[in-house]
Amino acid sequence: MVSLVKHPHPRERRLVFKNVDRPGWSPDIDTYLQDGGYDDLKKGFGMKPQEIVGEVKTSQLRGRGGAGFSCGMKWGFIKPDEKKPVYLICNADESEPGTFKDRYIIHQDPHQLLEGMILSCYAVNARLAYIYIRGEFPEGARILERAIQEAHARGFLGKNILGSGFDLEIFVHRGAGAYICGEETGLIESLEGKRAYPRIKPPYFPAVLGLYQCPTIVNNVETLCNVKHIVRLGGAEFAKIGRPNNTGTRILCVSGDVQKPGYFELECGAVTMGELLNDLCGGPKPGRKFKAVIPGGSSAKVLRADDTYKIKVKQPDGSMADQELKFDDIVLDFDSLAAVGSMAGSGGVIVMDDSRDMVWALNNINEFYAHESCGQCTPCREGSLWMKKITDRLAGGYGVAADPRTLKSVADNIAGRTICAFGEACAWPVQSFLQKFPEDFAGAAAKNELPRGARTALEALNPALAAAAAERH
Ligand SMILES: Cc1cc2nc3c(=O)[nH]c(=O)nc-3n(C[C@H](O)[C@H](O)[C@H](O)COP(=O)(O)O)c2cc1C
Ligand code: SF4
Repeated sequence: MVSLVKHPHPRERRLVFKNVDRPGWSPDIDTYLQDGGYDDLKKGFGMKPQEIVGEVKTSQLRGRGGAGFSCGMKWGFIKPDEKKPVYLICNADESEPGTFKDRYIIHQDPHQLLEGMILSCYAVNARLAYIYIRGEFPEGARILERAIQEAHARGFLGKNILGSGFDLEIFVHRGAGAYICGEETGLIESLEGKRAYPRIKPPYFPAVLGLYQCPTIVNNVETLCNVKHIVRLGGAEFAKIGRPNNTGTRILCVSGDVQKPGYFELECGAVTMGELLNDLCGGPKPGRKFKAVIPGGSSAKVLRADDTYKIKVKQPDGSMADQELKFDDIVLDFDSLAAVGSMAGSGGVIVMDDSRDMVWALNNINEFYAHESCGQCTPCREGSLWMKKITDRLAGGYGVAADPRTLKSVADNIAGRTICAFGEACAWPVQSFLQKFPEDFAGAAAKNELPRGARTALEALNPALAAAAAERH
């Protein structure tokens, strides 16, 4: 696996990534134990399960998989005296484009994840847990299998772990190689051996009706690793890292048009967009300017680099006042990114400079979503493909003036009308690209100036263009 950043940047605060790229570090259990590994588990077994749930609530930890939902609140849905089996699933699908953090934890520090998972299982009284790892990560699956065997051999898994009376088994399940397998209910279906068709919520909230219709906690790899640090530090101390409601660190994965792409673990809200892109990532490529950033994986709404953003800021007297922010001054945490109309999502920061054509960029995203829709809901199945066809012809110089309007209408009719959040995931890029870069789309629609003969020849070669032409006439 390629390592993007060898030495942590001085502005980083490495908690979860402490051992990633650490000189002399290896993923075996001896290295981990020599560094105090599994000490937090011993501490955790000295606490009552509900005390750990309480610490996680106090820590204000929010999920790192995409939605940023409170981890403590999710765990709180599991009744302490639950009669049905409770399951815990680690979501290691890492399928959101632009995201590359979980794989490094798995490859380089698998025991950190296991320790976080064992503590989490103890807290919610789960005796069986799964790591659902993306099918395309065979090496990660092997490393995890080996780590599980090592943990077993040392008494950290199996029956009566460390004499606590608590039993736990963890299994690795390789994913089915589709984006939708990362959506928690699709993932559960896939784990049950079926096609990953997401379930409708309500009633199928995993914490209520999850795996085999039993209460199930699904958390992301990074979220579960944080549990170990919460047990070590205590919830209140953990909550001092970052900002209120945006606590802990965040691993940001920066890709695209910067001089030094890579991963950076930063205290939540410790840096602004300008600092991330210019100080940590070395700024734009020579002679270029930043044009746009998608801050939280491809589903997050795009931000325009030359925009100003109006946000509401709470005043000392509790009233709200308007404030205008430059792009560079956007703080990188959950709430600040939501305030400017996007989201922190999965931490995948995709950067585009002024050499990028936004129609081309959106077409690339649309192609992904059209391919990955599971097809259960008509608006998503038909709409994702329709949007891709429109951007395809716009990018190919075959658009019509009405295309931007049609695109918006299709996207508006997907969001909020589907079984799972994939609907929003494919609609938000379209809506935001159109809103932020109307000139690129109008320009592309106006480009259809090829002489009739040339068009006919091209259409004969390309069935997609022929279909577009048929729609136009
Ligand atoms: C289409 C789609 C794909 C998703 N893919 C992932 C993924 O690859 N990894 C992940 O952790 N969460 C993914 N999620 C979010 C999960 O459904 C779920 O919210 C998350 O695993 C919960 O963990 P957290 O609370 O620790 O964030 C996806 C959601 C959607 C709608
Ligand atoms: S929104 Fe899309 S991906 Fe989700 S269930 Fe419906 S068709 Fe499948």
